[in-house]
Amino acid sequence: MASLTLSSPSSVKELSDSITLPTIPQIFVSRIPEAPRDFEPIVEEEIPAIDFDLLVNGAPDERSQVVRELGKACEDWGFFMVVNHGVPAKLRDSMMDAFKDLFGLTAEEKGEYLGRQVLDPIRIGTSFNSQVEDVMYWRDYVKIFVHPVFHSPNKPPKFREISKEYTACTRVVGMELLKGIWNSLGLDDSQMGEALNLDSCFQILASNLYPPCPQPELAMGLPSHSDHGLLTILYQNGVNGLQVKHKGNWVHVKPLPDSYLVNTGDHMEIVSNGRYRSVLHRAVVSGESTRMSIVSLLGPNLDAVVEPSPHLVSIDRPLAYRGIKYGDFMEQQQSSKLKDKSVLDLLRLHVN
Ligand code: OGA
Ligand code: NI
Repeated sequence: MASLTLSSPSSVKELSDSITLPTIPQIFVSRIPEAPRDFEPIVEEEIPAIDFDLLVNGAPDERSQVVRELGKACEDWGFFMVVNHGVPAKLRDSMMDAFKDLFGLTAEEKGEYLGRQVLDPIRIGTSFNSQVEDVMYWRDYVKIFVHPVFHSPNKPPKFREISKEYTACTRVVGMELLKGIWNSLGLDDSQMGEALNLDSCFQILASNLYPPCPQPELAMGLPSHSDHGLLTILYQNGVNGLQVKHKGNWVHVKPLPDSYLVNTGDHMEIVSNGRYRSVLHRAVVSGESTRMSIVSLLGPNLDAVVEPSPHLVSIDRPLAYRGIKYGDFMEQQQSSKLKDKSVLDLLRLHVN
């Protein structure tokens, strides 16, 4: 079990604020300079952009075009930027500020939310899962279940009001994107909504804080992983650090101003019977700047059994995944070491 030392600060933020030495505690060394896997080439590539306004308000031919673009982005990348999404910049800034205040609370104030179980609706912590990991990642996080039942910490004072509005807005964006994605697979969106019980979809609001790190080349914010669920909708504070795996290379993501970064999750891979794979991504840290991201993750209802859509199973494309209750998958993924697609891999039927 990994834990913070150095006069026991309770978060990476406290550690970073207090550190005067040029080195990080050994427990945070998660990259070995000799390991080629950690230093695969970083390439610059243009990431697909999706015009949300055209998807929702465009003429039928414009919508069809965006649906095709969405399908292509999911097939080629599992990752895209969303522009013209309609979420007010002011609301997003307030959400970012509210998380900043939450991270800034003392350990005592955060108290009841620290070190909780993976299915507790509000959880504040450091790294990913220090119960099972032998290294630590240079990251503090907050995770809050906000749908179908809305939860919020009571501090900072405005958090509840802001997060309620922010999560409702990003849920609308996510649901419209999902409809477009089902359409791009030739699926009926109301049938998909019913099969996954999306009216009672599971939604997590999370934030990641990556303070400046004295040895950024040795630490990681988050190691290579895919996300559970259907879609992750991420906004960052203007400091880059997210990398996605594309055709064997890590691509350093530089989002357009104001855009959201969206990636498809493991359950999209299952539902689509492998046509739209969840994308591997990771977060690197900076020597100078504090990076923050806010994440709205959308999944099926926790009780929904997620399995490949029968419309996407054929002789040419045999059933490739076992079905699983989303809640069971999520619990397992959150309780394990974060490593690539290790939980999804257990469901593969190895038919290809
Ligand atoms: C995550 C994640 C990346 C980032 O929260 O699952 O991958 O850039 N975050 O913060
Ligand atoms: Ni992720």
